[in-house]
Amino acid sequence: MCSIIGYRGPRPAARVLVGGLRRMEYRGYDSVGVATGSGGRILVKKGVGRVDGVNDSLRLDALPGHAGIGHTRWATQGAPTGANAHPHASSGARVAIVHNGSITNFEALRGSLEARGHRFASETDSEVIANLLESELGGEGGARGAVMRTVAALEGHYAFAALLDDGTIAAARRRAPLIVGVGDGEHYVSSDVLGFVEYTDDAIYVGDGNIVVIDGGGLAVYGADGAPAEARVTKVSRELAGIYKGDYAHYTLKEISEQPTSIIGAGGDERAIAAAARAIAGAKTVYVVGSGTSHNAAIVAKHLLSAHAGIRAEVIVASELPVHAHSLSGGVMLAISQSGESADMLEAARLASAAGVSVVSLVNHPSSSLARESAQVVRINCGPEIGVAATKSFTSQLAALHRITAELGGPRVDMAAVSRALAGALECDRRARGVAAGLRDMDDVYVLGRGVHYAIASEAALKLKELAYIHAEAMHGGELKHGPLALLDARSRVIVINPPGPTHEDALSDAAKIRARGARTIGIDTADAGEYDEWLRIPECEGWMYPLAEIVPAQLVAYYTALERDTDPDHPRNLAKSVTVR
Ligand code: G6P
Repeated sequence: MCSIIGYRGPRPAARVLVGGLRRMEYRGYDSVGVATGSGGRILVKKGVGRVDGVNDSLRLDALPGHAGIGHTRWATQGAPTGANAHPHASSGARVAIVHNGSITNFEALRGSLEARGHRFASETDSEVIANLLESELGGEGGARGAVMRTVAALEGHYAFAALLDDGTIAAARRRAPLIVGVGDGEHYVSSDVLGFVEYTDDAIYVGDGNIVVIDGGGLAVYGADGAPAEARVTKVSRELAGIYKGDYAHYTLKEISEQPTSIIGAGGDERAIAAAARAIAGAKTVYVVGSGTSHNAAIVAKHLLSAHAGIRAEVIVASELPVHAHSLSGGVMLAISQSGESADMLEAARLASAAGVSVVSLVNHPSSSLARESAQVVRINCGPEIGVAATKSFTSQLAALHRITAELGGPRVDMAAVSRALAGALECDRRARGVAAGLRDMDDVYVLGRGVHYAIASEAALKLKELAYIHAEAMHGGELKHGPLALLDARSRVIVINPPGPTHEDALSDAAKIRARGARTIGIDTADAGEYDEWLRIPECEGWMYPLAEIVPAQLVAYYTALERDTDPDHPRNLAKSVTVR
Protein backbone atom coordinates (compact mmCIF):
# COMPACT_ATOMS: atom_id res chain seq x y z
CA MET A 1 0.00 0.00 0.00
CA CYS A 2 1.15 3.52 -0.71
CA SER A 3 -0.02 7.02 0.02
CA ILE A 4 -0.62 9.65 -2.60
CA ILE A 5 -1.06 13.35 -2.10
CA GLY A 6 -1.55 16.39 -4.29
CA TYR A 7 -1.88 20.11 -3.66
CA ARG A 8 -2.70 23.22 -5.64
CA GLY A 9 -3.05 26.60 -3.97
CA PRO A 10 -1.17 29.60 -2.60
CA ARG A 11 1.16 27.71 -0.22
CA PRO A 12 4.58 26.38 -1.23
CA ALA A 13 3.37 22.99 -2.48
CA ALA A 14 6.42 20.89 -1.60
CA ARG A 15 6.27 21.82 2.09
CA VAL A 16 2.58 20.90 2.28
CA LEU A 17 3.21 17.62 0.48
CA VAL A 18 6.14 16.52 2.65
CA GLY A 19 4.16 17.30 5.84
CA GLY A 20 1.19 15.28 4.58
CA LEU A 21 3.40 12.37 3.53
CA ARG A 22 5.00 12.30 6.98
CA ARG A 23 1.54 11.88 8.56
CA MET A 24 0.59 9.15 6.12
CA GLU A 25 3.86 7.25 6.39
CA TYR A 26 2.05 4.44 8.18
CA ARG A 27 0.66 3.44 4.77
CA GLY A 28 4.04 2.60 3.27
CA TYR A 29 7.55 3.83 3.79
CA ASP A 30 10.22 2.27 1.64
CA SER A 31 10.67 5.25 -0.65
CA VAL A 32 9.31 8.73 -1.05
CA GLY A 33 9.13 11.46 -3.65
CA VAL A 34 7.60 14.78 -4.64
CA ALA A 35 6.99 16.52 -7.97
CA THR A 36 6.10 20.18 -8.35
CA GLY A 37 5.22 22.35 -11.29
CA SER A 38 7.15 25.57 -11.74
CA GLY A 39 7.52 27.81 -14.80
CA GLY A 40 5.83 25.28 -17.09
CA ARG A 41 8.23 22.49 -16.06
CA ILE A 42 7.79 19.50 -13.79
CA LEU A 43 10.51 18.99 -11.18
CA VAL A 44 10.88 15.58 -9.48
CA LYS A 45 12.90 14.51 -6.44
CA LYS A 46 12.68 11.05 -4.93
CA GLY A 47 14.73 8.53 -3.01
CA VAL A 48 14.77 5.32 -0.99
CA GLY A 49 14.02 5.51 2.74
CA ARG A 50 11.70 7.24 5.15
CA VAL A 51 10.23 10.71 4.61
CA ASP A 52 12.49 12.51 7.05
CA GLY A 53 15.67 10.76 5.95
CA VAL A 54 15.09 11.37 2.22
CA ASN A 55 13.95 14.92 2.87
CA ASP A 56 17.08 15.66 4.93
CA SER A 57 19.36 14.53 2.14
CA LEU A 58 17.42 15.64 -0.96
CA ARG A 59 15.42 18.62 0.41
CA LEU A 60 12.19 17.52 -1.25
CA ASP A 61 10.42 20.33 0.57
CA ALA A 62 12.57 22.98 -1.12
CA LEU A 63 11.17 22.31 -4.60
CA PRO A 64 9.54 25.52 -5.91
CA GLY A 65 5.94 25.84 -7.11
CA HIS A 66 2.37 26.01 -5.90
CA ALA A 67 1.11 22.76 -7.36
CA GLY A 68 2.52 19.31 -6.82
CA ILE A 69 2.09 15.66 -5.99
CA GLY A 70 3.84 13.31 -3.56
CA HIS A 71 4.04 9.66 -2.62
CA THR A 72 5.28 7.20 -0.03
CA ARG A 73 5.68 3.71 -1.36
CA TRP A 74 5.25 0.18 -0.14
CA ALA A 75 6.75 -1.83 -2.97
CA THR A 76 4.57 -4.34 -4.80
CA GLN A 77 5.55 -4.24 -8.50
CA GLY A 78 9.31 -3.53 -8.65
CA ALA A 79 11.83 -3.43 -5.81
CA PRO A 80 12.15 -0.42 -3.50
CA THR A 81 14.73 1.49 -5.56
CA GLY A 82 15.15 5.14 -6.48
CA ALA A 83 14.02 4.43 -10.05
CA ASN A 84 10.86 2.68 -8.87
CA ALA A 85 10.01 5.40 -6.35
CA HIS A 86 7.17 7.73 -7.34
CA PRO A 87 6.45 10.26 -8.83
CA HIS A 88 6.96 8.85 -12.30
CA ALA A 89 7.32 11.33 -15.14
CA SER A 90 6.10 10.52 -18.64
CA SER A 91 8.85 10.18 -21.20
CA GLY A 92 7.96 13.56 -22.73
CA ALA A 93 8.10 15.13 -19.23
CA ARG A 94 4.62 16.69 -19.63
CA VAL A 95 3.05 14.60 -16.86
CA ALA A 96 4.11 13.13 -13.50
CA ILE A 97 1.96 10.73 -11.54
CA VAL A 98 1.74 9.08 -8.13
CA HIS A 99 -0.23 5.87 -7.78
CA ASN A 100 -1.60 3.58 -5.09
CA GLY A 101 -2.91 0.21 -6.25
CA SER A 102 -2.06 -2.23 -8.97
CA ILE A 103 -2.54 -2.05 -12.75
CA THR A 104 -2.98 -5.63 -13.85
CA ASN A 105 -2.70 -5.03 -17.63
CA PHE A 106 0.41 -2.85 -17.39
CA GLU A 107 2.62 -5.16 -19.45
CA ALA A 108 0.36 -4.97 -22.49
CA LEU A 109 -0.05 -1.21 -22.07
CA ARG A 110 3.67 -0.74 -21.69
CA GLY A 111 4.35 -2.76 -24.85
CA SER A 112 2.01 -0.65 -26.94
CA LEU A 113 3.30 2.62 -25.46
CA GLU A 114 6.90 1.58 -26.16
CA ALA A 115 5.92 0.78 -29.74
CA ARG A 116 4.68 4.37 -29.97
CA GLY A 117 8.01 5.74 -28.77
CA HIS A 118 7.43 6.13 -25.00
CA ARG A 119 10.46 5.25 -22.89
CA PHE A 120 10.23 3.70 -19.43
CA ALA A 121 12.62 4.25 -16.55
CA SER A 122 11.19 1.93 -13.87
CA GLU A 123 9.90 -1.61 -13.34
CA THR A 124 6.61 -0.38 -11.91
CA ASP A 125 3.12 -0.84 -13.26
CA SER A 126 2.46 2.81 -12.36
CA GLU A 127 4.64 4.38 -15.02
CA VAL A 128 2.18 3.39 -17.76
CA ILE A 129 -0.35 5.80 -16.25
CA ALA A 130 1.97 8.78 -16.81
CA ASN A 131 2.69 7.80 -20.39
CA LEU A 132 -0.89 6.94 -21.26
CA LEU A 133 -2.01 10.27 -19.90
CA GLU A 134 0.64 12.11 -21.86
CA SER A 135 -0.36 10.31 -25.04
CA GLU A 136 -3.97 11.39 -24.50
CA LEU A 137 -3.29 15.02 -23.64
CA GLY A 138 -3.64 16.42 -27.15
CA GLY A 139 -7.12 14.91 -27.59
CA GLU A 140 -10.58 16.25 -26.88
CA GLY A 141 -11.77 17.46 -23.50
CA GLY A 142 -8.50 18.74 -21.97
CA ALA A 143 -7.32 17.10 -18.75
CA ARG A 144 -10.77 15.61 -18.11
CA GLY A 145 -10.86 13.89 -21.51
CA ALA A 146 -7.27 12.65 -21.16
CA VAL A 147 -7.98 11.09 -17.76
CA MET A 148 -11.24 9.57 -19.02
CA ARG A 149 -9.45 7.83 -21.87
CA THR A 150 -6.58 6.80 -19.60
CA VAL A 151 -8.78 5.16 -16.98
CA ALA A 152 -10.79 3.43 -19.69
CA ALA A 153 -7.59 1.61 -20.69
CA LEU A 154 -6.54 0.63 -17.15
CA GLU A 155 -7.43 -2.68 -15.51
CA GLY A 156 -6.95 -3.31 -11.79
CA HIS A 157 -7.47 -0.88 -8.98
CA TYR A 158 -5.94 2.47 -8.34
CA ALA A 159 -6.01 5.91 -6.94
CA PHE A 160 -3.65 8.18 -8.81
CA ALA A 161 -2.88 11.86 -8.92
CA ALA A 162 -1.22 13.47 -11.90
CA LEU A 163 0.56 16.79 -12.20
CA LEU A 164 0.45 18.31 -15.68
CA ASP A 165 3.09 20.78 -16.85
CA ASP A 166 0.53 23.62 -16.78
CA GLY A 167 0.04 23.07 -13.02
CA THR A 168 -3.24 21.15 -13.31
CA ILE A 169 -3.76 18.31 -10.84
CA ALA A 170 -5.89 15.45 -12.16
CA ALA A 171 -6.81 12.38 -10.14
CA ALA A 172 -8.97 9.29 -10.38
CA ARG A 173 -9.88 6.31 -8.26
CA ARG A 174 -11.13 2.80 -8.68
CA ARG A 175 -11.39 0.69 -5.52
CA ALA A 176 -8.63 2.58 -3.69
CA PRO A 177 -9.21 5.60 -1.46
CA LEU A 178 -9.07 9.18 -2.75
CA ILE A 179 -10.21 12.17 -0.74
CA VAL A 180 -10.24 15.82 -1.74
CA GLY A 181 -9.54 18.47 0.89
CA VAL A 182 -11.21 21.79 0.19
CA GLY A 183 -9.48 24.85 1.66
CA ASP A 184 -9.73 28.56 1.03
CA GLY A 185 -8.62 28.94 -2.60
CA GLU A 186 -6.70 25.69 -2.37
CA HIS A 187 -7.32 21.98 -2.88
CA TYR A 188 -5.71 18.77 -1.76
CA VAL A 189 -6.07 15.20 -2.96
CA SER A 190 -4.98 12.45 -0.63
CA SER A 191 -5.25 8.78 0.30
CA ASP A 192 -6.21 9.74 3.85
CA VAL A 193 -7.59 12.86 5.51
CA LEU A 194 -4.39 12.89 7.57
CA GLY A 195 -2.69 14.20 4.42
CA PHE A 196 -4.41 17.58 4.71
CA VAL A 197 -6.38 17.82 7.95
CA GLU A 198 -3.76 20.19 9.36
CA TYR A 199 -5.07 22.78 6.87
CA THR A 200 -8.75 22.00 6.33
CA ASP A 201 -11.48 19.75 7.69
CA ASP A 202 -13.73 20.05 4.64
CA ALA A 203 -13.42 16.85 2.67
CA ILE A 204 -15.00 15.22 -0.36
CA TYR A 205 -14.88 11.42 -0.47
CA VAL A 206 -14.51 10.87 -4.18
CA GLY A 207 -16.97 8.29 -5.52
CA ASP A 208 -15.62 5.07 -6.97
CA GLY A 209 -14.72 5.44 -10.64
CA ASN A 210 -14.78 9.23 -10.50
CA ILE A 211 -12.29 11.76 -11.85
CA VAL A 212 -11.06 14.97 -10.21
CA VAL A 213 -9.56 17.96 -12.00
CA ILE A 214 -8.07 20.91 -10.11
CA ASP A 215 -6.92 23.81 -12.28
CA GLY A 216 -7.10 27.61 -12.43
CA GLY A 217 -10.90 27.34 -12.47
CA GLY A 218 -10.99 25.43 -9.17
CA LEU A 219 -12.21 21.90 -8.51
CA ALA A 220 -14.39 19.73 -10.73
CA VAL A 221 -15.46 16.12 -10.13
CA TYR A 222 -16.69 13.92 -12.99
CA GLY A 223 -17.99 10.42 -13.45
CA ALA A 224 -16.13 7.99 -15.69
CA ASP A 225 -18.38 9.17 -18.57
CA GLY A 226 -17.21 12.76 -18.10
CA ALA A 227 -20.53 14.04 -16.72
CA PRO A 228 -20.36 16.14 -13.53
CA ALA A 229 -20.56 13.88 -10.46
CA GLU A 230 -21.74 14.45 -6.90
CA ALA A 231 -19.10 16.10 -4.73
CA ARG A 232 -20.56 16.53 -1.26
CA VAL A 233 -18.34 18.30 1.25
CA THR A 234 -18.31 16.65 4.68
CA LYS A 235 -16.57 17.73 7.87
CA VAL A 236 -13.82 15.49 9.15
CA SER A 237 -12.69 15.76 12.71
CA ARG A 238 -10.15 18.48 13.37
CA GLU A 239 -8.94 16.38 16.25
CA LEU A 240 -7.15 14.31 13.67
CA ALA A 241 -4.79 17.22 13.15
CA GLY A 242 -3.53 16.76 16.70
CA ILE A 243 -2.21 13.28 16.16
CA TYR A 244 1.23 13.25 17.57
CA LYS A 245 3.13 10.94 19.79
CA GLY A 246 3.28 13.33 22.71
CA ASP A 247 5.68 11.99 25.30
CA TYR A 248 5.61 8.47 23.92
CA ALA A 249 8.59 7.06 22.09
CA HIS A 250 6.35 5.40 19.52
CA TYR A 251 2.76 5.55 18.30
CA THR A 252 2.51 1.84 19.10
CA LEU A 253 3.20 2.46 22.79
CA LYS A 254 0.90 5.48 22.81
CA GLU A 255 -1.90 3.41 21.32
CA ILE A 256 -1.37 0.48 23.68
CA SER A 257 -1.40 2.92 26.60
CA GLU A 258 -4.54 4.79 25.59
CA GLN A 259 -6.74 1.69 25.50
CA PRO A 260 -8.53 2.49 28.78
CA THR A 261 -9.91 5.60 27.07
CA SER A 262 -9.99 4.53 23.42
CA ILE A 263 -12.33 1.67 24.39
CA ILE A 264 -15.05 3.96 25.72
CA GLY A 265 -16.77 4.77 22.43
CA ALA A 266 -16.56 1.22 21.02
CA GLY A 267 -19.66 0.28 19.09
CA GLY A 268 -20.96 3.82 18.68
CA ASP A 269 -24.63 4.52 18.75
CA GLU A 270 -27.23 2.18 20.27
CA ARG A 271 -29.35 1.98 17.13
CA ALA A 272 -26.49 0.69 14.98
CA ILE A 273 -25.69 -1.98 17.59
CA ALA A 274 -29.34 -3.04 17.85
CA ALA A 275 -29.73 -3.15 14.06
CA ALA A 276 -26.59 -5.27 13.69
CA ALA A 277 -27.78 -7.63 16.42
CA ARG A 278 -31.20 -7.97 14.74
CA ALA A 279 -29.60 -8.75 11.38
CA ILE A 280 -27.36 -11.40 12.94
CA ALA A 281 -30.17 -12.95 14.99
CA GLY A 282 -32.37 -13.25 11.92
CA ALA A 283 -29.72 -14.68 9.62
CA LYS A 284 -29.72 -18.25 8.40
CA THR A 285 -25.90 -18.22 8.28
CA VAL A 286 -23.39 -15.82 9.82
CA TYR A 287 -19.97 -15.46 8.22
CA VAL A 288 -17.38 -13.54 10.22
CA VAL A 289 -14.60 -12.25 8.01
CA GLY A 290 -11.36 -10.34 8.63
CA SER A 291 -7.61 -10.23 7.97
CA GLY A 292 -4.71 -10.10 10.41
CA THR A 293 -5.81 -8.70 13.75
CA SER A 294 -9.35 -8.32 12.49
CA HIS A 295 -9.36 -12.05 11.74
CA ASN A 296 -8.41 -12.73 15.35
CA ALA A 297 -11.32 -10.51 16.40
CA ALA A 298 -13.50 -12.63 14.09
CA ILE A 299 -12.47 -15.77 16.01
CA VAL A 300 -13.53 -14.05 19.24
CA ALA A 301 -16.84 -13.11 17.56
CA LYS A 302 -17.51 -16.76 16.78
CA HIS A 303 -17.00 -17.65 20.45
CA LEU A 304 -19.22 -14.81 21.67
CA LEU A 305 -22.06 -15.62 19.30
CA SER A 306 -21.91 -19.27 20.24
CA ALA A 307 -21.54 -18.76 24.01
CA HIS A 308 -24.03 -15.97 24.50
CA ALA A 309 -26.52 -16.24 21.65
CA GLY A 310 -26.38 -19.89 20.61
CA ILE A 311 -25.52 -18.76 17.07
CA ARG A 312 -23.08 -20.85 15.07
CA ALA A 313 -20.91 -18.56 12.97
CA GLU A 314 -18.33 -19.44 10.38
CA VAL A 315 -14.99 -17.59 10.47
CA ILE A 316 -13.37 -16.96 7.09
CA VAL A 317 -10.05 -15.21 6.40
CA ALA A 318 -10.92 -12.38 3.99
CA SER A 319 -8.45 -13.50 1.32
CA GLU A 320 -9.95 -17.01 1.41
CA LEU A 321 -13.53 -15.93 0.88
CA PRO A 322 -13.31 -16.20 -2.93
CA VAL A 323 -12.62 -19.93 -2.46
CA HIS A 324 -15.96 -20.28 -0.67
CA ALA A 325 -17.92 -17.76 -2.75
CA HIS A 326 -19.77 -20.47 -4.69
CA SER A 327 -21.34 -21.82 -1.50
CA LEU A 328 -22.48 -18.49 -0.02
CA SER A 329 -26.17 -17.89 -0.11
CA GLY A 330 -28.14 -15.41 1.95
CA GLY A 331 -27.34 -14.70 5.57
CA VAL A 332 -25.09 -12.04 7.04
CA MET A 333 -21.41 -11.32 6.69
CA LEU A 334 -19.94 -9.61 9.72
CA ALA A 335 -17.02 -7.84 8.03
CA ILE A 336 -14.37 -6.75 10.55
CA SER A 337 -11.77 -4.25 9.35
CA GLN A 338 -10.10 -1.42 11.20
CA SER A 339 -9.37 0.56 8.06
CA GLY A 340 -12.29 -0.59 5.95
CA GLU A 341 -9.86 -0.41 3.05
CA SER A 342 -8.11 -3.82 2.99
CA ALA A 343 -8.38 -5.04 -0.59
CA ASP A 344 -9.05 -8.64 0.44
CA MET A 345 -11.94 -7.49 2.59
CA LEU A 346 -13.42 -5.26 -0.09
CA GLU A 347 -13.35 -8.17 -2.52
CA ALA A 348 -14.91 -10.47 0.10
CA ALA A 349 -17.70 -7.96 0.74
CA ARG A 350 -18.30 -7.56 -2.99
CA LEU A 351 -18.59 -11.32 -3.48
CA ALA A 352 -20.84 -11.67 -0.44
CA SER A 353 -23.19 -8.93 -1.63
CA ALA A 354 -23.32 -10.52 -5.08
CA ALA A 355 -24.39 -13.79 -3.39
CA GLY A 356 -27.21 -12.06 -1.55
CA VAL A 357 -25.35 -11.95 1.77
CA SER A 358 -26.02 -8.76 3.71
CA VAL A 359 -22.81 -7.07 4.86
CA VAL A 360 -22.66 -5.70 8.41
CA SER A 361 -19.29 -4.02 8.84
CA LEU A 362 -17.33 -3.26 11.98
CA VAL A 363 -14.93 -0.45 11.10
CA ASN A 364 -12.94 2.38 12.61
CA HIS A 365 -13.33 4.60 9.57
CA PRO A 366 -17.02 5.29 8.95
CA SER A 367 -16.33 6.83 5.56
CA SER A 368 -14.15 3.94 4.39
CA SER A 369 -14.90 2.00 1.21
CA LEU A 370 -16.14 -0.99 3.22
CA ALA A 371 -18.49 1.12 5.34
CA ARG A 372 -19.90 2.79 2.27
CA GLU A 373 -20.58 -0.55 0.63
CA SER A 374 -22.16 -2.20 3.70
CA ALA A 375 -25.85 -2.59 4.49
CA GLN A 376 -25.11 -1.69 8.12
CA VAL A 377 -22.12 -0.17 9.89
CA VAL A 378 -20.97 -0.47 13.50
CA ARG A 379 -18.17 1.89 14.46
CA ILE A 380 -15.36 0.84 16.75
CA ASN A 381 -14.53 4.49 17.36
CA CYS A 382 -11.05 4.12 18.84
CA GLY A 383 -9.61 7.18 17.10
CA PRO A 384 -6.91 7.10 14.44
CA GLU A 385 -4.52 4.19 14.80
CA ILE A 386 -1.13 5.09 13.35
CA GLY A 387 1.07 2.17 14.53
CA VAL A 388 1.17 -0.40 11.74
CA ALA A 389 0.46 -3.25 14.15
CA ALA A 390 -3.13 -3.01 15.37
CA THR A 391 -3.45 -2.66 19.15
CA LYS A 392 -6.21 -0.36 20.39
CA SER A 393 -8.42 -1.21 17.42
CA PHE A 394 -8.39 -4.86 18.53
CA THR A 395 -9.70 -4.17 22.02
CA SER A 396 -12.31 -1.82 20.58
CA GLN A 397 -13.37 -4.46 18.06
CA LEU A 398 -13.85 -6.91 20.92
CA ALA A 399 -15.79 -4.39 22.99
CA ALA A 400 -18.07 -3.56 20.05
CA LEU A 401 -18.66 -7.28 19.47
CA HIS A 402 -19.60 -7.63 23.14
CA ARG A 403 -22.13 -4.83 22.76
CA ILE A 404 -23.70 -6.68 19.83
CA THR A 405 -23.84 -9.97 21.75
CA ALA A 406 -25.26 -8.17 24.80
CA GLU A 407 -28.30 -7.41 22.61
CA LEU A 408 -28.54 -11.13 21.87
CA GLY A 409 -28.55 -12.27 25.48
CA GLY A 410 -24.88 -11.86 26.42
CA PRO A 411 -23.60 -10.06 29.51
CA ARG A 412 -24.38 -6.38 29.82
CA VAL A 413 -21.37 -4.30 28.80
CA ASP A 414 -20.11 -1.87 31.40
CA MET A 415 -17.53 0.10 29.44
CA ALA A 416 -16.23 1.86 32.56
CA ALA A 417 -15.43 -1.54 34.08
CA VAL A 418 -13.69 -2.62 30.86
CA SER A 419 -11.70 0.58 30.96
CA ARG A 420 -10.60 -0.18 34.56
CA ALA A 421 -9.60 -3.72 33.58
CA LEU A 422 -7.45 -2.40 30.74
CA ALA A 423 -5.85 0.18 33.01
CA GLY A 424 -5.08 -2.58 35.52
CA ALA A 425 -3.54 -4.75 32.80
CA LEU A 426 -1.23 -1.89 31.77
CA GLU A 427 0.31 -1.99 35.24
CA CYS A 428 2.40 -4.99 34.26
CA ASP A 429 4.59 -2.68 32.17
CA ARG A 430 7.77 -3.22 34.23
CA ARG A 431 7.40 -7.01 34.24
CA ALA A 432 6.64 -6.94 30.51
CA ARG A 433 10.01 -5.26 29.95
CA GLY A 434 11.67 -8.02 31.95
CA VAL A 435 9.95 -10.71 29.89
CA ALA A 436 10.96 -8.88 26.70
CA ALA A 437 14.62 -8.86 27.77
CA GLY A 438 14.41 -12.65 28.09
CA LEU A 439 12.90 -13.01 24.61
CA ARG A 440 15.54 -10.90 22.90
CA ASP A 441 17.60 -13.83 21.61
CA MET A 442 14.78 -16.28 21.05
CA ASP A 443 13.99 -17.56 17.58
CA ASP A 444 10.65 -19.13 18.41
CA VAL A 445 7.98 -18.34 20.94
CA TYR A 446 4.72 -20.22 21.47
CA VAL A 447 1.53 -18.75 22.83
CA LEU A 448 -0.99 -21.11 24.34
CA GLY A 449 -4.67 -20.53 25.02
CA ARG A 450 -7.81 -22.59 25.39
CA GLY A 451 -11.33 -21.66 24.27
CA VAL A 452 -11.73 -17.99 23.43
CA HIS A 453 -8.22 -17.39 24.81
CA TYR A 454 -6.81 -19.19 21.76
CA ALA A 455 -7.97 -16.21 19.67
CA ILE A 456 -6.01 -13.93 21.99
CA ALA A 457 -2.99 -16.26 21.79
CA SER A 458 -3.22 -15.92 18.03
CA GLU A 459 -3.27 -12.12 18.30
CA ALA A 460 -0.35 -12.17 20.78
CA ALA A 461 1.68 -14.31 18.36
CA LEU A 462 0.85 -11.91 15.53
CA LYS A 463 2.14 -8.97 17.60
CA LEU A 464 5.44 -10.79 18.25
CA LYS A 465 5.85 -11.48 14.54
CA GLU A 466 4.96 -7.98 13.41
CA LEU A 467 6.79 -5.95 16.02
CA ALA A 468 9.73 -8.12 17.09
CA TYR A 469 10.21 -10.34 14.01
CA ILE A 470 10.12 -13.45 16.19
CA HIS A 471 8.57 -16.61 14.86
CA ALA A 472 5.62 -16.97 17.19
CA GLU A 473 2.92 -19.55 17.00
CA ALA A 474 -0.39 -19.81 18.77
CA MET A 475 -1.55 -23.21 19.96
CA HIS A 476 -4.68 -24.64 21.42
CA GLY A 477 -3.79 -26.02 24.86
CA GLY A 478 -5.44 -29.33 24.06
CA GLU A 479 -3.37 -29.73 20.90
CA LEU A 480 -0.06 -29.59 22.77
CA LYS A 481 0.11 -33.35 23.03
CA HIS A 482 -0.72 -33.80 19.34
CA GLY A 483 2.52 -32.35 18.01
CA PRO A 484 3.84 -29.13 19.56
CA LEU A 485 5.30 -30.94 22.62
CA ALA A 486 7.94 -32.38 20.25
CA LEU A 487 9.26 -28.85 19.68
CA LEU A 488 9.79 -27.94 23.30
CA ASP A 489 13.14 -27.93 25.07
CA ALA A 490 15.12 -25.68 27.39
CA ARG A 491 15.37 -22.97 24.73
CA SER A 492 11.60 -22.73 24.28
CA ARG A 493 9.47 -19.97 25.74
CA VAL A 494 5.71 -20.45 26.01
CA ILE A 495 3.33 -17.66 26.92
CA VAL A 496 0.31 -19.21 28.61
CA ILE A 497 -2.79 -17.04 28.44
CA ASN A 498 -4.71 -18.27 31.40
CA PRO A 499 -7.22 -16.06 33.19
CA PRO A 500 -9.66 -17.49 35.75
CA GLY A 501 -12.58 -19.35 34.24
CA PRO A 502 -13.58 -22.74 32.85
CA THR A 503 -10.31 -23.31 30.97
CA HIS A 504 -7.98 -22.32 33.82
CA GLU A 505 -7.25 -25.73 35.33
CA ASP A 506 -6.60 -27.39 31.97
CA ALA A 507 -4.29 -24.61 30.81
CA LEU A 508 -2.41 -24.86 34.09
CA SER A 509 -1.82 -28.53 33.49
CA ASP A 510 -0.63 -27.60 29.95
CA ALA A 511 1.88 -25.27 31.62
CA ALA A 512 3.06 -28.12 33.86
CA LYS A 513 3.62 -30.37 30.82
CA ILE A 514 5.57 -27.62 29.11
CA ARG A 515 7.84 -27.11 32.12
CA ALA A 516 8.38 -30.85 32.39
CA ARG A 517 10.12 -30.61 28.96
CA GLY A 518 12.48 -27.96 30.33
CA ALA A 519 10.77 -25.06 28.55
CA ARG A 520 10.03 -21.80 30.37
CA THR A 521 6.48 -20.53 30.81
CA ILE A 522 5.26 -16.96 31.02
CA GLY A 523 1.77 -16.89 32.52
CA ILE A 524 -0.78 -14.16 31.87
CA ASP A 525 -3.12 -14.63 34.81
CA THR A 526 -4.63 -12.84 37.79
CA ALA A 527 -2.39 -14.81 40.17
CA ASP A 528 0.97 -16.53 40.04
CA ALA A 529 -0.38 -20.04 39.82
CA GLY A 530 2.92 -21.82 40.51
CA GLU A 531 3.42 -23.24 37.01
CA TYR A 532 4.76 -20.00 35.60
CA ASP A 533 8.47 -19.13 35.44
CA GLU A 534 7.47 -15.54 34.85
CA TRP A 535 4.12 -13.97 35.53
CA LEU A 536 2.29 -11.01 33.98
CA ARG A 537 -0.58 -9.95 36.16
CA ILE A 538 -3.99 -8.96 34.87
CA PRO A 539 -6.60 -7.62 37.28
CA GLU A 540 -9.59 -9.65 38.39
CA CYS A 541 -12.71 -8.71 36.46
CA GLU A 542 -15.93 -10.22 35.16
CA GLY A 543 -15.14 -13.35 33.17
CA TRP A 544 -16.20 -12.00 29.77
CA MET A 545 -13.73 -9.12 30.05
CA TYR A 546 -10.59 -11.25 30.32
CA PRO A 547 -9.89 -11.50 26.57
CA LEU A 548 -9.80 -7.70 26.45
CA ALA A 549 -7.47 -7.41 29.43
CA GLU A 550 -5.16 -10.32 28.64
CA ILE A 551 -4.04 -9.04 25.24
CA VAL A 552 -2.56 -5.93 26.87
CA PRO A 553 0.46 -7.63 28.56
CA ALA A 554 1.12 -9.47 25.29
CA GLN A 555 1.08 -6.20 23.35
CA LEU A 556 3.54 -4.68 25.82
CA VAL A 557 5.85 -7.71 25.64
CA ALA A 558 5.85 -7.55 21.82
CA TYR A 559 6.55 -3.81 21.89
CA TYR A 560 9.42 -4.06 24.37
CA THR A 561 10.86 -7.10 22.58
CA ALA A 562 10.95 -4.97 19.41
CA LEU A 563 13.00 -2.38 21.31
CA GLU A 564 15.30 -5.11 22.68
CA ARG A 565 15.87 -6.36 19.15
CA ASP A 566 16.34 -2.87 17.80
CA THR A 567 13.47 -2.98 15.33
CA ASP A 568 11.15 -0.03 14.67
CA PRO A 569 7.77 -0.93 16.20
CA ASP A 570 5.88 1.81 14.37
CA HIS A 571 7.15 0.74 10.97
CA PRO A 572 7.72 -3.02 10.80
CA ARG A 573 9.67 -4.08 7.75
CA ASN A 574 7.63 -5.27 4.74
CA LEU A 575 4.27 -4.48 6.35
CA ALA A 576 1.73 -1.74 5.82
CA LYS A 577 -1.12 -0.47 7.93
CA SER A 578 -3.78 -1.35 5.45
CA VAL A 579 -3.05 -3.54 2.51
CA THR A 580 -4.95 -2.18 -0.45
CA VAL A 581 -3.53 -4.68 -2.94
CA ARG A 582 -4.60 -8.30 -3.23
C1 G6P B 1 -2.52 -5.27 7.70
C2 G6P B 1 -2.04 -4.67 9.00
C3 G6P B 1 -2.61 -5.44 10.17
C4 G6P B 1 -4.13 -5.51 10.07
C5 G6P B 1 -4.57 -6.09 8.74
C6 G6P B 1 -6.07 -5.97 8.52
O1 G6P B 1 -1.95 -6.51 7.51
O2 G6P B 1 -0.62 -4.65 9.05
O3 G6P B 1 -2.26 -4.79 11.38
O4 G6P B 1 -4.63 -6.27 11.12
O5 G6P B 1 -3.95 -5.37 7.67
O6 G6P B 1 -6.41 -4.62 8.43
P1 G6P B 1 -7.89 -4.07 8.58
O7 G6P B 1 -7.75 -2.59 8.40
O8 G6P B 1 -8.70 -4.71 7.47
O9 G6P B 1 -8.37 -4.46 9.92
